[in-house]
Amino acid sequence: MKLSTSNSYKQNKLRSFDQNEWASSYCNVEKELDSTRLSKIKGTIPKDLSGCFYRNGPGRLERNGQWVHHPFDGDGMIASFNFDGGDVYLRNRFIRTKEWEEEEKAGKFLYRGVFGTQKSGGIAANIFDTRLKNIANTNVIKLGDDLLALWEAAGPYSLDPETLETKGLSNLNGVLKNGEAFSAHPRFDPGHNGKEVMVNFGVSTGPRSTIRLMEFETSGNQSGSLISERKDTFSGFAFLHDFAITTNWAIFLQNNISFNPIPFLFGQKGAAQCLSSKPGSAGKFLLIPRNSGIYAGIPPKVIDAPDGFVFHHLNASENHNKIKLESIYYKDFPSIGPSEDFRNINFEKLPEGILKSCEIDLFNNKIVSKTLSDQCCEFAMVNPSKEGIKARFAWMATAAKKYGNGPLQSIKKIDLINGEEISWTAAPHGFVGEPLMIPSSENKLEDFGWIIVLIWNGSIRKTELIILNAQNMAEQAVIELPIAIPHGLHGSWVQK
Ligand code: FE2
Repeated sequence: MKLSTSNSYKQNKLRSFDQNEWASSYCNVEKELDSTRLSKIKGTIPKDLSGCFYRNGPGRLERNGQWVHHPFDGDGMIASFNFDGGDVYLRNRFIRTKEWEEEEKAGKFLYRGVFGTQKSGGIAANIFDTRLKNIANTNVIKLGDDLLALWEAAGPYSLDPETLETKGLSNLNGVLKNGEAFSAHPRFDPGHNGKEVMVNFGVSTGPRSTIRLMEFETSGNQSGSLISERKDTFSGFAFLHDFAITTNWAIFLQNNISFNPIPFLFGQKGAAQCLSSKPGSAGKFLLIPRNSGIYAGIPPKVIDAPDGFVFHHLNASENHNKIKLESIYYKDFPSIGPSEDFRNINFEKLPEGILKSCEIDLFNNKIVSKTLSDQCCEFAMVNPSKEGIKARFAWMATAAKKYGNGPLQSIKKIDLINGEEISWTAAPHGFVGEPLMIPSSENKLEDFGWIIVLIWNGSIRKTELIILNAQNMAEQAVIELPIAIPHGLHGSWVQK
């Protein structure tokens, strides 16, 4: 592996990290800024970077001295970074969900969290309280005139894209029923079937699970409206966080896990803590024909998947009767037990994410899987113009060390054809979030553009926005933020 280091981080040869520095990111976001020009910059902001980087993640982790059990239970807060002519302006807002407003007023947690946060008062206060708190904290995307804060178990919250003010819970102009789930992982088809569309899904789970697959306009005066949908029901409980698309297919991996709701109902565990690996059977690929593709209307295909648990996919592509799907596999479902403190997790004892590709033969239902890299990784993406077709390059967050689990501290570019890798690292004091690849507006080569990523700099206890050259991973700029933002989740880029 070649290691490309940066000006400010080039002396950092260590591969270890300080757990306290990593955990120090977990704090409440104390301020909401109006558009604020960021001036503490090392390097320069590229003038051709023109658009807005939106990022979502948990921003409220403690109330009245009580901490969430898992950071994923923290209330969503959106940060927007507007790039304009070599300057960048930050704004941030919590999403005013109904439950956030109630808890702000009460000054304490009034709802249980899916990942194990309980109301104070022990089991008696939590038993049979199955209400879900829409924390709107997982992703943020622009659709039509709205910015949508997404959380997969409920509908999206609509925000003003400029001011980030919350408009309210959205049913997408009547598309979603009351309480219907809408995934936090939409995929943007850059136009393989004639026009750009957004593809997304919602899943209702139980002994049988139903996937509603939806395609939306993303351009013109109908932008945001539903183009088509279909519903398919599969046997078994389906925990589906992400999916992938090709020109003709939507591809899901139904993980091999079961859900025992009893500890949740009896107030002992959060719903996600009731998921566990199911021994003795394989996960399944669920392949649903897209309505805009050549197989529209035919039934889905169900094919055995390799062992392992998957949250996120990198990309998918198809070649005649074969589909190639690249995903990040864990040996088991990683969770934090009821008696553990998330700030003290032992990375060595948790399974690491490994990037693998799986070729699915649709004629004979056979699969062939291959490891693409042994290094622990998460949050992978390709150039957005390659979404759903064969891509040569991918970018992702990785651990600093080559083998074994560890916090995400580096950003890696992989050449998927020859396996060559180049990394930029923030180790030992920096911890990276999801990198976004923003293609150059001037040069259409696949790896021309920029990588933007928020990092937590544990040595100064501050959040920084990093810009890298996507081709050679050289550091372009380090921009210090006036607010501290906890390790976050997903985001998106809206080009001006
Ligand atoms: Fe995700």
